Amino acid sequence: MSSQIDHVFDETRVFPPSPEFAAAAVAQPEIYSEAATDREAFWAEQARELHWHTPFTQVLDWTTPPFAKWFADGELNVAYNCLDRHVEAGDGDRVALLWEGEPGDERRITYAELTDEVKRLANVLEGLGVGHGDRVAIYLPMIPEAVASMLAVARIGAIHSVVFGGFSADSLRSRIDDAGAKVVITADGGYRKGKASPLKPTVDQALADRGEGEQNTVEHVLVVKRCENEIDWDDERDVWYHDAVSAASDAHDAQAFPAENPLFILYTSGTTGKPKGILHTSGGYLTQASYTHRVVFDLKPETDVYWCTADIGWVTGHSYVAYGPLANGATQVMYEGTPETPQQGRWWDIIQKYGVTTLYTAPTAIRSFMKLGREIPQRYDLSSLRLLGSVGEPINPEAWIWYRDVIGGGSAPIVDTWWQTETGAIMASPLPGITATKPGSAQVALPGISIDVVDDDGNSVGVGGGGLLAITQPWPSMLRGIWGDPERFVETYWEKFATHGYYFAGDGARFDEDGDLWLLGRVDDVMNVSGHRLSTAEIESALVAHEATAEAAVVGASDETTGQAVVAFVIIKESYLKAHSPEGLALQLRGWVGEQIGPIARPRDVYIVGELPKTRSGKIMRRLLRDVAEGREVGDTTTLADTAVMSVISAQVK
Ligand code: WT7
Repeated sequence: MSSQIDHVFDETRVFPPSPEFAAAAVAQPEIYSEAATDREAFWAEQARELHWHTPFTQVLDWTTPPFAKWFADGELNVAYNCLDRHVEAGDGDRVALLWEGEPGDERRITYAELTDEVKRLANVLEGLGVGHGDRVAIYLPMIPEAVASMLAVARIGAIHSVVFGGFSADSLRSRIDDAGAKVVITADGGYRKGKASPLKPTVDQALADRGEGEQNTVEHVLVVKRCENEIDWDDERDVWYHDAVSAASDAHDAQAFPAENPLFILYTSGTTGKPKGILHTSGGYLTQASYTHRVVFDLKPETDVYWCTADIGWVTGHSYVAYGPLANGATQVMYEGTPETPQQGRWWDIIQKYGVTTLYTAPTAIRSFMKLGREIPQRYDLSSLRLLGSVGEPINPEAWIWYRDVIGGGSAPIVDTWWQTETGAIMASPLPGITATKPGSAQVALPGISIDVVDDDGNSVGVGGGGLLAITQPWPSMLRGIWGDPERFVETYWEKFATHGYYFAGDGARFDEDGDLWLLGRVDDVMNVSGHRLSTAEIESALVAHEATAEAAVVGASDETTGQAVVAFVIIKESYLKAHSPEGLALQLRGWVGEQIGPIARPRDVYIVGELPKTRSGKIMRRLLRDVAEGREVGDTTTLADTAVMSVISAQVK
């Protein structure tokens, strides 16, 4: 990543919005001064864009930090805000989802139809015994039922935990168990890369083989029929989604729940082996998800066709496929499959076909399209695009410029949005009609958000110097905790800057002379691969769970396409080598990690080595391994217990 960062520091190009774009933009320059004058009044005004069954009188309660309450005495129903409200306002015929399956099948679902589906599904879930505060796991492909499931769970005041469909049975099982889910909603399968990729068998596996003392909390599995793949069936536990939904009543009143009612848990990797269940609540979350979706994407709900390519298994899919766009009454494209199926221009074909105006995607996707060449997008009419977004990792200036020129026709503004699973919604980004954009910079804290770059003690480093990104004031969509682990919540995010009361994001950052923010990557043992967070510790523990492995160390090495790539250094047990040939072992370990965690965690390279570089206190020096993985001269080795070890490793890797 360092070459990329050096490059970023030389970047001086600036792209102001066109006068036409600026004049018609949803957010006008006063928004910054309004928010700065009275932050809480500003947020209250954003919150009042929603429908409150019981209006709030308090805005922020920060009396017991870091446990914030926003709009705490107000009551609302999240699903009502995303659905019924639009139907009641006369927009029931507006298309909510322009869905396209990978094989080419299509569904257009209006707000009225989606409301009807969600009401029925809410009745189904209640019929299965799901009530207020219960957890429902969702393990689905990118099909309309995924969005409907999230909203139906929200509608009845239950809590969803969406698990990305690419996660393994083990990963799914630990998430189901940690949350104590009562119901799992899944599908027989989903289409990926031209074939049905099964999901229900993974759920079956996750729920099977409970050891002594392990409790299975799941009572029912609701199964969407999407593919024709054969699946096993448990008559007592399993229910066909469409049978249940069509038999259910379409009448369901949205009950009001307190603003701080939990809305969802979403697991993300941390610095230890165990993923953290990030908890978000209702009123503040929906306020910030919808506000940011409106101002950052300059949303004109009557005319825009918005497309966020994220999977609902990630936070981007929660805030910018499900909640933000639907709360704002947007029309959006949802696509089931992979970008290269059945041909490499699939995304551009979709943009042309639906007249997409706003595209929100990740730098890793842009870089893989760059590699394929501009001839592919140039075959399509992309002139409907008027705004482009980027998320998940720093975007290198080359990719930024390519995105603007080739996809955005040289004129569409790019919003590079910095945020995290924990922040719930966008925190820093240009505003497209106001900010003169700079390739590679996430630029400015949004109105209502306070970000600083600080040193290890929480003191501002000012302009030019590198430091740590801190969020200095609570924000409405902030995480409210880690499910079942309040101590870890305090320790992970708040202890670092306890004297200042700031939130520690785990990212390095720097302000330039104009006060624009540049993100410099994670400062902890968390990797960012294709915009997804992976923990070195989690992959190391998967590797040592293999019978061949004695020890393992994992690093994130810079990668041209994926930003970072997983590189593993593994020591094999002598006893294993006595009985087995080491041939093919690296490949086998790679596959093993894929099975244990999911294909996204599969190391790009596995190096079998004799030793690992350790300090005298036994800590693995990952910095040195990163040097090797990135093919650099190995850095300072003086603190190693055995300074010769690095030359041995370098030789073994070659
Ligand atoms: C981490 C959060 C936010 C949804 C997707 C990822 C990195 C995210 C940017 C950006 C530079 C970025 C950070 C952050 N990140 N967006 N625009 N520029 N870095 O969510 O899995 O919670 O990961 O992604 O390192 O901490 P996540």
